[in-house]
Amino acid sequence: MAYSRPIFFGFLACTLCLISGTSSAQLTHNFYSESCPQVFGVVTSVVWAAIAREKRMGASLLRLHFHDCFVNGCDGSVLLDDTATFRGEKTAAPNNNSARGFEVIDTIKLNLEEVCPGVVSCADILAITALKSVVALGGPKWTVKLGRRDSTTANFSAANGGAIPPPTSSLTTLINTFQAVGLSGHEMVALAGGHTIGKARCTSFRAHVYNDSNIHPLFATLRQSNCPPSSGSGDENLAPLDIVTPARFNTHYYKNLIRKKGLLHSDQQFYSGGSTDPQVELYATNPVSFGMDFAAAMVKMGDIRPLTGADGEIRRNCRMVNW
Ligand code: HEM
Ligand SMILES: *[C@@H]1O[C@H](CO)[C@@H](O)[C@H](O)[C@H]1NC(C)=O
Ligand SMILES: *[C@@H]1O[C@H](CO)[C@@H](O)[C@H](O)[C@H]1NC(C)=O
Ligand SMILES: *[C@@H]1O[C@H](CO)[C@@H](O)[C@H](O)[C@H]1NC(C)=O
Repeated sequence: MAYSRPIFFGFLACTLCLISGTSSAQLTHNFYSESCPQVFGVVTSVVWAAIAREKRMGASLLRLHFHDCFVNGCDGSVLLDDTATFRGEKTAAPNNNSARGFEVIDTIKLNLEEVCPGVVSCADILAITALKSVVALGGPKWTVKLGRRDSTTANFSAANGGAIPPPTSSLTTLINTFQAVGLSGHEMVALAGGHTIGKARCTSFRAHVYNDSNIHPLFATLRQSNCPPSSGSGDENLAPLDIVTPARFNTHYYKNLIRKKGLLHSDQQFYSGGSTDPQVELYATNPVSFGMDFAAAMVKMGDIRPLTGADGEIRRNCRMVNW
């Protein structure tokens, strides 16, 4: 039987976790190897097609996994639409008019429901999608852990209230926000390398390019030219997070920080005379070191409070709870 192994190992893991007193089973590398061996092929082909249409989509998909994991763990909560009984996370400040790629996740889910109905969670789809997006744009690989289950609710107030740090954050706030989900300052600086791809809106970088002093003056002028100073006008105008190679996953993000060309206030915090400067310098000159640290930190981020065993559910449609 296709699904007997995950259930057996889930049972075994839960017997062990009862003995050790923890409540959740472990994620595993081969969770779907019997129940849905097609999972990687399906995700990869949809992700590659989406990135072929628009390179930025790889960035948007990576960010969805981050925003999922930081709010009540990696449980697919970011994908839920609003309902009569709860408010979803999509209109929370970090996501409103910003989080994107939901249609790509829908397509993956639709294709997976055809080949292995009711088997692959939306939370796992996000984790695999993040990996395949990074690889498609030239970044490192990691062995993704699987077996997450999906939440039956979302948490607007957590998503809105600082679980995901705003771009105005100080280094101390950033460190504390990552610490709150069990990630170290070192892991944070590696994960921030995600900003080697993708774009931000004027509203996210306006204050930095007009009012901060730790910014290259010509870079500030360039970014001001497409971001009017008063809020309301041009809020949605986009600029690349990495000015050099916006659609290649590499270490230019860190090189930019050394030249004071970080787009967000929060980006430049990692190279402004504080404790993280040496790590930025290391990654700027050592792509192998960055790749290894980023990969390891992605696995760790993917391990934030997953639902496992009999908790949660496998959603049939990532946008809504089963009924
Ligand atoms: C360190 C704390 C972080 C802060 C303060 C932060 C903040 C932001 C902001 C403000 C944007 C632009 C949103 C917009 O204007 O629409 C953004 C975009 C992005 N973030 Fe982060 N972020 C952080 C960490 C991360 C991490 C850990 C990842 C993934 C590993 C990540 C991946 C991305 C990507 C790929 C984009 C571009 C998305 C797109 O083009 O659609 N960020 N981030
Ligand atoms: C989200 O954005 C829309 C469109 O700009 C806006 O009307 C709405 O008030 C925003 N929602 C929240 C919760 O800020
Ligand atoms: C939502 O998140 C807040 C923390 O911001 C927490 O106190 C609350 O228990 C969470 N609610 C649910 C339903 O998980
Ligand atoms: C810059 O700072 C001044 C003084 O605090 C403030 O009035 C102005 O709104 C700020 N401008 C931007 C674009 O943040």
